[in-house]
Amino acid sequence: MQITFLGHSSLLIETGGKSLLVDPFITGNDKVKGKINIEDLKPDYILVTHAHQDHILDVEEIGKKNKATVVSNFEIATYYENKGLKSHPMNHGGSWKFDFGTLKYVNAIHTSSFPDGTNGGQPGGFILSSEGKCIYIAGDTALTMDMKLIPMSFQLDLAVLPIGDNFTMGVDDALIASDFVQCPRILGYHYDTFGYIIIDHKESVQKFSKHGKELILLEIGESLKV
Ligand code: NI
Ligand code: MN
Repeated sequence: MQITFLGHSSLLIETGGKSLLVDPFITGNDKVKGKINIEDLKPDYILVTHAHQDHILDVEEIGKKNKATVVSNFEIATYYENKGLKSHPMNHGGSWKFDFGTLKYVNAIHTSSFPDGTNGGQPGGFILSSEGKCIYIAGDTALTMDMKLIPMSFQLDLAVLPIGDNFTMGVDDALIASDFVQCPRILGYHYDTFGYIIIDHKESVQKFSKHGKELILLEIGESLKV
């Protein structure tokens, strides 16, 4: 499984012979300009954690161009179905076996209205099992006790956690979250994009390393293998 960081909370995951785009916010992100071109993204699936602008901005355009299937909660999937995109609706606690692997939609503590005011259901995260590996994509969330449910059923190889604070948990809570999900390898996301969520990289990485954990902060366009 290869994961490429596309800035903010946007990820491209290549696994099981398919390409999965997560929370595409590319064209509105100044940090990404000149580094990522949405024409180069050819996803088979677009995973959407919740309906906020900084997670859905490019879903419609990329989804239509590539005939990609939007996977999200029922409200978000229906919203894109009504716009002519293919969709697979899920909801919290549910799993589905896709042609690339299995996804489970899990709880997140956050909100999820669309920019136009449409109800975006309840926000979530995904657990992706594919090619014998398992990763947790938390979405925008606070630290929550529900994270303790995850290692009861999954042995994670990587947890992707928001670390920017203000809108989501910050680095200190993400460190606790890594205990809750029992995964010492963390990919940080949802930081530095806006003034509210700028973090100190060195200090953040050290907080994890002090506890024998790894916080990975990828450059935009950089990949890691799981
Ligand atoms: Ni959000
Ligand atoms: Mn967000």
